[in-house]
Amino acid sequence: DAERAALVARIKRLLKERDAVLVAHYYVDSSLQQVAEETGGCVADSLEMARFGKEHAAGTLVVAGVRFMGETAKILSPEKRVLMPTLEAECSLDLGCPADAFQRFCEQHPGRTVVVYSNTSVAVKALADFVVTSSIAVPLVEHLRDQGKKILWAPDRHLGDYIRRETGADMMLWEGSCVVHDEFRSRELENLRKAHPAAAVLVHPESPREVILQADVVGSTSQLIAAVRERRESEFIVATDNRIFYKMQQAAPGKRLIEAPTGGHSATCHSCAHCPWMAMNDLSSLADTLEHCSHEIFVDEAERVKALTATQRMLDFAA
Ligand code: 13P
Ligand code: SF4
Repeated sequence: DAERAALVARIKRLLKERDAVLVAHYYVDSSLQQVAEETGGCVADSLEMARFGKEHAAGTLVVAGVRFMGETAKILSPEKRVLMPTLEAECSLDLGCPADAFQRFCEQHPGRTVVVYSNTSVAVKALADFVVTSSIAVPLVEHLRDQGKKILWAPDRHLGDYIRRETGADMMLWEGSCVVHDEFRSRELENLRKAHPAAAVLVHPESPREVILQADVVGSTSQLIAAVRERRESEFIVATDNRIFYKMQQAAPGKRLIEAPTGGHSATCHSCAHCPWMAMNDLSSLADTLEHCSHEIFVDEAERVKALTATQRMLDFAA
């Protein structure tokens, strides 16, 4: 409608005026993904967001996603201004792994290589040897295993369990989980597969083990989108945040996408497969942020420098 078109036009004008580029995750609303696509920004998984933000020439990065994504951009590009539509968009994995408790956990298990998921605070990354995202977690841990390293992994226990099964590495796991992916239900998924026997099952590895075990493809958001584009099936059951359907449908317009069943823990949520923090990003909060250059990410410089080592290793490994 007209109001929305005016808002989008305002955002596009402000992006230019502020020398800013929009870096969006696949889980944010499609209206934001669209603006990123139309203005030379990116819509990506968390590894590609980090890489894009670091390499882009713009002086301001506007990160539509959750807090750790803005912080990762700042870790890698301290000279850039990093803004977010909201600073309240957290992540249950980040919240469930406070730095002081994590430090004690590391001290209780000395001699292990500390590998943390990118869904963590700067302070937790500062304690790590390596940062990884789901797209490179398995090959990175394989690489460390081949060097004889024992691993301490945090915070997602399902992803950690999956990596351990895939690599056979000796891994000590922190017990965190994602409120969205933890809701996917294996029994109901079995039934849904029976109703759609030709469908391929795509699963993000933050999902419970019994769900992952039913997957044809386990991968990061970008890897799951690539599977929809490249595989020959015409139907897919998808166990991840449903806002990814926008890009999947774009990648393979003729194909049918079906949401994997969730526990439906809340009476008010029609479908629980959407991250409540990703949902805090919208066009009007983006416009306000750009207008006022508000919601800027600042990180402690000493922590940033420590976190940079482990975060840069992630990019170097992925290169
Ligand atoms: P990706 O790195 O696969 O985009 O995942 C990020 C995330 O938060 C998944 O819940
Ligand atoms: Fe964090 Fe889960 Fe939301 Fe991803 S979907 S940002 S892991 S709470």
